[in-house]
Order: sequence, then C-alpha cells, then structure tokens
Amino acid sequence: MAANTTEAKLDLVKKHIKLSKISFSTNICPILKDPGALTAVIDLFEEHVRQTHHQVELIAGLDARGFLFGPLLAQRLGVGFVLIRKKGKLPGRTVSVPYTLEYGQAEVEMQEDAVAPGQKVLLIDDLLATGGTLSAACELLRKNKAELLGCVVVIEMKDLHGSERIKPATVFSLIQY
Ligand code: PRP
Repeated sequence: MAANTTEAKLDLVKKHIKLSKISFSTNICPILKDPGALTAVIDLFEEHVRQTHHQVELIAGLDARGFLFGPLLAQRLGVGFVLIRKKGKLPGRTVSVPYTLEYGQAEVEMQEDAVAPGQKVLLIDDLLATGGTLSAACELLRKNKAELLGCVVVIEMKDLHGSERIKPATVFSLIQY
C-alpha cells in the first residue's frame, strides 16, 4: 500500500536507509530501487519546499548523488535544475570554489550562466556530513549572486555539526543520525 501521510512516508524512507556510523558511509541505493520509497522522498521534499520556499526558481544539485533526487524534485515543482560538479567536468565557462576534504582538497564548479543574479535557488544533496561540500556550494551560489533559499538533504549526520558550517544557510533533512 502506498504511504499517504507524512509520517508513513518518513517511516518508509527510514526503512530503506542503511548507515554505517563507523565509516560515516550511507547507502541510498535501496531508496532508488523502490519506486514507492523514491516517491516518498520527493513528496516529502516537495511538501517542505511548498511550505517554506514556495518562491523557489531553480534547484541546484551536488555531484553526484544530488543529481539523483534534484531533477525529480525540480520537475515536481515546475522549475529548472542545474548541476554543481566536481571541477573539470562541465563544458564552457565555469566558476569554482575550493574546499577541504578529510584527505586533501577538492573544488565545486558550475557554469557561469547557470544562475541569473538574484535567482532564488535551493540546494539539494543526499547527505550532510561535515558540511564541507554544501558550504562550498553555498559560497559558489553567493559568488554567482544567486539568492540561496536553503538546502535539502535526505540524511543529516547531526554529530558532525555540518549545519553549523553552512550557516547562515539552513538545512532540511528527512533523516537525522
Ligand atoms: C558525499 C555526499 C555529499 C558529501 C557530504 O559525496 O554525497 O555530497 O559527501 O559530505 P560532507 O558534508 O562531509 O562534505 P562525495 O564527496 O563522497 O562524492 P560522490 O557523491 O561523488 O561520491
């Protein structure tokens, strides 16, 4: 039977998430494999965005797993989707922001014309862990003069305090560990 309340949808999503607290790795594959669970994820994001960020004009997704949920949400909301990729993957002129990983450096990048100045953008990814990736993406959007409405993720690892790192941007997560 399809989950038809917010609570039932959250329960369904939780049942599909496998998490290892030791390696801080997550497995979102079971969600993608079950159309009911994937629909529940997008329903819950849609509900949040319509209540909190109804003025959204564009969804920006993080490489790579933000690409799995972002276009589905964007289509639901009737807005466009743009890619924030790891450096060196996008064609044309780009803007980038470096960030620090546990081991070394990385860089997020988007096309120069992906966002119009003042455009109201929502960021999406599968996971907020240390917040390094999302905080670099927030900076990238500011650099492109977008108006960042907030971030949405499937899973937030509360113990790592990533939400502190992305402030003043806010995050909405479906599951917290
Ligand atoms: C993972 C995850 C997030 C990021 C979260 O991506 O999909 O994007 O880490 O971690 P953080 O909050 O500590 O920055 P990863 O860098 O492993 O890249 P991938 O999606 O290409 O595997």
